[in-house]
Formats: sequence, C-alpha cells, structure tokens
Amino acid sequence: MVTGDDSEEDRSQWDKKYKTKTYIFGKEPALFLKEHVNLLPVGKALDIAMGEGRNAIYLAKKGFIVEGVDISEVALQKAKMLARDNNVTSKLLAINADLNTYTIKSDYYEVIMNFYYLQRSLFPQIKKGLKKGGIVVFETYTEEQLKNKEGQRIPKDYLLKIGELREAFKDFEILVYRETNNGKEAIASLVARKQ
Ligand SMILES: C[S@@+](CC[C@H](N)C(=O)[O-])C[C@H]1O[C@@H](n2cnc3c(N)ncnc32)[C@H](O)[C@@H]1O
Repeated sequence: MVTGDDSEEDRSQWDKKYKTKTYIFGKEPALFLKEHVNLLPVGKALDIAMGEGRNAIYLAKKGFIVEGVDISEVALQKAKMLARDNNVTSKLLAINADLNTYTIKSDYYEVIMNFYYLQRSLFPQIKKGLKKGGIVVFETYTEEQLKNKEGQRIPKDYLLKIGELREAFKDFEILVYRETNNGKEAIASLVARKQ
C-alpha cells in the first residue's frame, strides 16, 4: 500500500482514466513490438507499466510467460479480462505495484518491455533483470513531442532526450534504434540485447 505521496495521486488518476468499458490504449499491440517480435527469445517476459495488457497478451499468445506490473488495479483487471478472452489466463501474472519502489528480479527474464512509460531509475534494474542474451524492447515519447499539438502538456521529465535511450543502453548490442515524429507522436524505439 502506498500512502500520502505522489504515487497515491498517480494511482487514483490512472484508475479514473481506466474506468471505461473501452480499452483506452486499444487491444492491439504496439506496432513496434509486432514488427520485432521475431527477435525475442521465447521465455519469461516482464511488461513494465503494463496498463490494460495489449502488449503482454500479445506475447502470451506467442508462448511467453508474462509478468505485468502496473500501479492501476483497474488497468490490471482489464488486462486479466483480455487474457481470459484470448485463453492465455495461465500465461499472465498481473502485479499491482508502484514501480518507484518495486524491485525487478535479477537475471530472470528473456524479455523486458517498456511502452510509453519513463522512469530512468529503472534502467539499471532492466539491465540486471535480463538474462544474458535477453532483450529489452523500449518505446516512449521524446522531447520532440513538445512540438506536436498532442504533447504540449507532458512534463519534460517524462520525455526522452534526443539520443538518450540509445546512450542508456550503449553497453547492450543495439539491434534496432529509431527516433520518429509523424506530427502526432514523437517517439524513440529500441530493441537491444544484453551481452
Ligand atoms: C501511457 S500508459 C502505458 C500503458 C502500456 N504500457 C501501454 O503501452 O499500453 C502508462 C502506465 O503507467 C502506469 N504507471 C504510472 N505510474 C506508475 C508507477 N509509479 N508504477 C507503476 N505503474 C505506473 C499507469 O497506470 C499506466 O498504465
């Protein structure tokens, strides 16, 4: 239980956002994950800030055992429902926790993914959490997003600097790295392997 701090506020704000029948981020996986799924060694995967499970359930259907951590219990219930609808209930473990205090298991995962969430303090834990040969898949907004109409209210701290993600994983083998801005979404995307 988290009490009386920013995390408690985050939790109730996210719970409120997720309290709709529809899946606010959709049920389909991120395109970047779909495009690069063949690079991922099947095994145990961790979905950081899993939300409603669109990416986790996609990997579960591909044979991965997926753990998803999120601060919003409402989102996790929706993820579990999506798992049920796709007959992969036994492949998903939904963990309700605040990632500011959560400890990622060391040397444990084949894959760690992080979509549209930025907590820089997790970078060392992501590296430690992967087994040798394990893969990180990371995609989130860059500061370029401030130039787009949709992104002007995002606090700068939650946006990657140009080149920051590649630099953060420079001790990994970078398999894919790109920064794009289509006028709506300015993002950096990375697939990298622990050596
Ligand atoms: C933009 S959503 C992305 C969800 C999912 N990764 C996706 O791409 O569909 C960000 C997620 O971060 C979660 N979150 C925010 N702060 C968190 C925290 N301190 N600990 C764990 N999860 C958090 C929210 O509940 C929300 O589900």
